[in-house]
Amino acid sequence: MIYFSGTYNTKILVDLTSTIFNNKGYVVKAVDVTKGKVEDVSDFDILVIAYPIYAFNAPYPIIDYVKRLNKVSKDIKCLILKDSGEYLSLNNASSLQLASILNKKNIKVFSEYHYLMPYSFVFRHTDYMAYKMLSIIKERLPLDIDDFLNGNHHYLKRFIFDRPFSFIFRVQRLGGKINGKHYRIDYNKCIKCNKCLNNCPANNIKLIDDKYIFGNKCLMCQRCSVNCPKQAISVGFFKKWAIGPSYSFSEVTTYQKEVKPKYCARSYKRYFEESEKRINHE
Ligand SMILES: Cc1cc2nc3c(=O)[nH]c(=O)nc-3n(C[C@H](O)[C@H](O)[C@H](O)COP(=O)(O)O)c2cc1C
Ligand code: SF4
Ligand code: SF4
Repeated sequence: MIYFSGTYNTKILVDLTSTIFNNKGYVVKAVDVTKGKVEDVSDFDILVIAYPIYAFNAPYPIIDYVKRLNKVSKDIKCLILKDSGEYLSLNNASSLQLASILNKKNIKVFSEYHYLMPYSFVFRHTDYMAYKMLSIIKERLPLDIDDFLNGNHHYLKRFIFDRPFSFIFRVQRLGGKINGKHYRIDYNKCIKCNKCLNNCPANNIKLIDDKYIFGNKCLMCQRCSVNCPKQAISVGFFKKWAIGPSYSFSEVTTYQKEVKPKYCARSYKRYFEESEKRINHE
């Protein structure tokens, strides 16, 4: 399993997936693409790729990793698991670039599933919603993996605008490099714990003369700002979209009203209805 996770939402999906496969007797190797060396996937029967959708696309570290994979000569079943803050159809084309690179390596995408996780950017969901989203994944994922292992393909529906949107928004990768240099730290709040510096997946933060300097390799993953214990990092031009602190995902049973943009309401309704049907085998 190869994965990228910014604020660790996708890492939760990856850990759940590992447990499901382990319980079925599979030996799983999970590789964080920002840390692990490039594997020879010919050694494996199944390739799972997990990523959060960034600007209607797969994040660049996943693309870069897959580009560096060897061409394979055996049949490998590939499963894509992606999560995002929004169940918009415009997100459906996010794996196109990835699938086309995989094709060149002789790896065909067998199935793809999309799950809702709370936004790591743009606006903050309530902890109630985060818990609800995770609860749904816990019920859906085992069913989806069973379907995959039983040989049932699952593709996401295609729409007229998803492909051009996905293509145009690849510009986010460049935007990250420009915006990343404008991240700033409020030294009245910062406790110099180095958490941001030590955990940046792009090694983009340096400590120079007792000041944290952000370079031009930023992925906009928000790991530094969301997980800063003092909420001391402002994220450049997009500072109004910062969402910290991180979600707890622990049980919240009392309803909390969401302050979310109107465009979300319809797609969330659709996701929750679809999930309910799936879980109840309707
Ligand atoms: C730079 C960036 C761009 C994003 N773009 C999208 C998007 O296009 N569509 C969407 O539904 N969610 C988008 N999101 C939300 C994430 O996909 C979502 O919160 C995901 O669960 C984050 O996972 P992670 O914690 O593993 O990084 C974006 C988040 C970031 C940081
Ligand atoms: S994580 Fe926050 S408190 Fe810790 S060094 Fe970075 S900015 Fe300062
Ligand atoms: S600087 Fe922050 S947002 Fe940019 S890549 Fe590093 S952790 Fe992610």
